[in-house]
Amino acid sequence: MVQTQNIPAKTAHFLELENQFGAHNYHPIPVVLDRGEDIFLWDVEGKKYYDFLSGYSAVNQGHCHPRIIARLIEQAQRLTLTSRAFHSNLLGEYAEYITTLFDYDKVLPMNTGVEAGETAVKLARRWGYVKKGIADPEARIVFARGNFWGRTLSAISSSTDPVSYKLFGPYMPGFDLVDYNSLPALEMALQNPNVAAFMVEPIQGEAGVVVPDEGYLRGVRALCTQYNVLMIADEIQTGLCRTGKMLAVDHEEVRPDILVLGKALSGGVLPVSAVLADDDIMMNIKPGEHGSTYGGNPLACAVAMEALQVLQDEKMGDNAENMGAMFRKAMQDLQSPLISTVRGKGLLNAIVINHSNPEAAWDICLQLKENGLLAKPTHGDKIRFAPPLTIQPADIMQCVDIIDSTLKKFEG
Ligand SMILES: Cc1ncc(COP(=O)(O)O)c(C=O)c1O
Repeated sequence: MVQTQNIPAKTAHFLELENQFGAHNYHPIPVVLDRGEDIFLWDVEGKKYYDFLSGYSAVNQGHCHPRIIARLIEQAQRLTLTSRAFHSNLLGEYAEYITTLFDYDKVLPMNTGVEAGETAVKLARRWGYVKKGIADPEARIVFARGNFWGRTLSAISSSTDPVSYKLFGPYMPGFDLVDYNSLPALEMALQNPNVAAFMVEPIQGEAGVVVPDEGYLRGVRALCTQYNVLMIADEIQTGLCRTGKMLAVDHEEVRPDILVLGKALSGGVLPVSAVLADDDIMMNIKPGEHGSTYGGNPLACAVAMEALQVLQDEKMGDNAENMGAMFRKAMQDLQSPLISTVRGKGLLNAIVINHSNPEAAWDICLQLKENGLLAKPTHGDKIRFAPPLTIQPADIMQCVDIIDSTLKKFEG
């Protein structure tokens, strides 16, 4: 039974249905949503909320962006899937569009974020054998502690979170871990000549929006070049204007060897992910060696081009930069004893809750919901604040007021 005391009957009905018939692999905030528009969501009772999660940064462009939905409907009525057994009229156009935008020779289209991460790791291993001369099967991939790139067996094999990996072994071999934000630790690991790649998030999202020191990404780039190791940037959460630039690596003018994108690549409409690299890396994979039935389907191509164009046309990077700075300053100005840290970049932000009760962040999120703002704790004491990138100053300040009045209930 789910806890349905004090929960309206309609909401309780949907919670019970999920609880009875759905696997219990998530612990959601008890709100049942049935409509979204731009920065707002509505629940089945008709209550309106500010969305401060944006589908874990998949909805950067705002819910049901009219241009993206129009393109979705138009293409859905024409052709949705060919598989890669045949060509479509949109895959080449999309490939040209996205490789031009991000300045890489080639794209390999996939669906979910974790599949794109898997693809990047396969590409790096193959490059390691064919180009770097690592003896098969000795290739190693280095990851940073605290990383999150999804839930497949490979992804959890690099995880340092027991909740992710415990009792799911045996694990993928050939993975090494180093401390995040430590260049000396990385340099030590890269000295192993069997290392093919270092895969890293420019900001660790799921770990609680952990922002590395200025210069870290530049240092990573330099070390990878020095040791002939591929730099893989997992921009699935940080990319596509979320941190105030098209890519988070753009803040340090770094060009990764392999770029991994997902989430907002479709504006939250369907799973679309992509791996970008130059020919020296991408052309080591030959027909039949990798793929996916839905990867690069015409519906995804159409939606992704529109979603990327909307980000640029509406200057969402600039807005994320400005609104993020305003939000962090306003949060700091609250001087709440409950906030030990405010951190982030652009509109990828988090606060760390300072409270003796380990459940405080969860309880605060429940109260935020009552007050009309949806957010979710991550890793116990952190609350991520990541609204759609279309948010404007008046709404930022209204949301800071909601957070302020909510926190005051928990003070003292
Ligand atoms: C940085 C990062 N990489 C990869 C993923 C996995 O994406 P997906 O859930 O679409 O598989 C996530 C999801 O949160 C992520 O934050």
